[in-house]
Amino acid sequence: MNAPARNDEFAETIPAGVYAEKVLSVQHYTDRLFRFRMTRPAGFRFRSGEFAMIGLMVEGKPVYRAYSIASPAWDEELEFFSIKVPDGPLTSHLQKIQPGDTVLMRKKPTGTLVLDALTPGKRLYMFSTGTGIAPFASLIRDPETYEKFDDVILTHTCREVSELKYGLDLVEEIRNDEMLSEIVGEKLRLYSTVTREDYPFQGRITDLIANGKLFTDLGVPAFDPAVDRGMICGSAAMLKETKELLEKAGLEEGANNKPGEFVIERAFVG
Ligand code: A2P
Repeated sequence: MNAPARNDEFAETIPAGVYAEKVLSVQHYTDRLFRFRMTRPAGFRFRSGEFAMIGLMVEGKPVYRAYSIASPAWDEELEFFSIKVPDGPLTSHLQKIQPGDTVLMRKKPTGTLVLDALTPGKRLYMFSTGTGIAPFASLIRDPETYEKFDDVILTHTCREVSELKYGLDLVEEIRNDEMLSEIVGEKLRLYSTVTREDYPFQGRITDLIANGKLFTDLGVPAFDPAVDRGMICGSAAMLKETKELLEKAGLEEGANNKPGEFVIERAFVG
């Protein structure tokens, strides 16, 4: 392509208001999913559950997408869990990163899947599909989650069994971590289900809520706005349908400036 010659400030330098960080490790789970860890800028602060704009220079221009930060606020590195979209403007390139490569991150994190956006409760449900587990990977490693809730239930639904590995490994890591396992104790439960393959737990989370199997499997009562709180992260359709089920049970949606009984956020796509 013969682009006209111009003084492109992005070609060699890092754009203003952006951190340039080094990739530390990359792990591929399936041909659709991978995670990477990168250095954390000294001045970068965020709340567990928030997202940041992550980018790469592509043909001299930065390309960004919103990514939930999967590592907890106390971690000295940053972790992200990503889908690979073959023609995705960012992920078609991001899936090829190697340790030592540079990844861009805009300076200001934001998001609604934060503990501050929920009113006090006893049981916290985190409903996720696919890469929607990322903000919860952060929150289940944050001690504050267990200070605020006695029972923390993370649901993760994927099409295939191999896509559950990130979540399963994560909980295993928590159990094997001396400090975290003491804080988490028996409070955390991971409920993994699969929709397109055989697995001990099968079905969409929306169906499992509607038919009550979720509650039977976990041995808990149906949703109760007095004690239950929720966070939802998945596709637009999954958010809408799960939200409707929580509202039907009497829970009200909250936000940063008006805490409520549940909060939602769309998982990264493209
Ligand atoms: P299904 O296999 O029945 O479509 P995706 O990769 O398309 O985002 O899907 C991730 C998981 O979310 C899949 O298990 C999928 O189930 C499920 N899912 C898709 N749409 C919804 C929805 N509207 N409500 C609940 N779960 C959904």
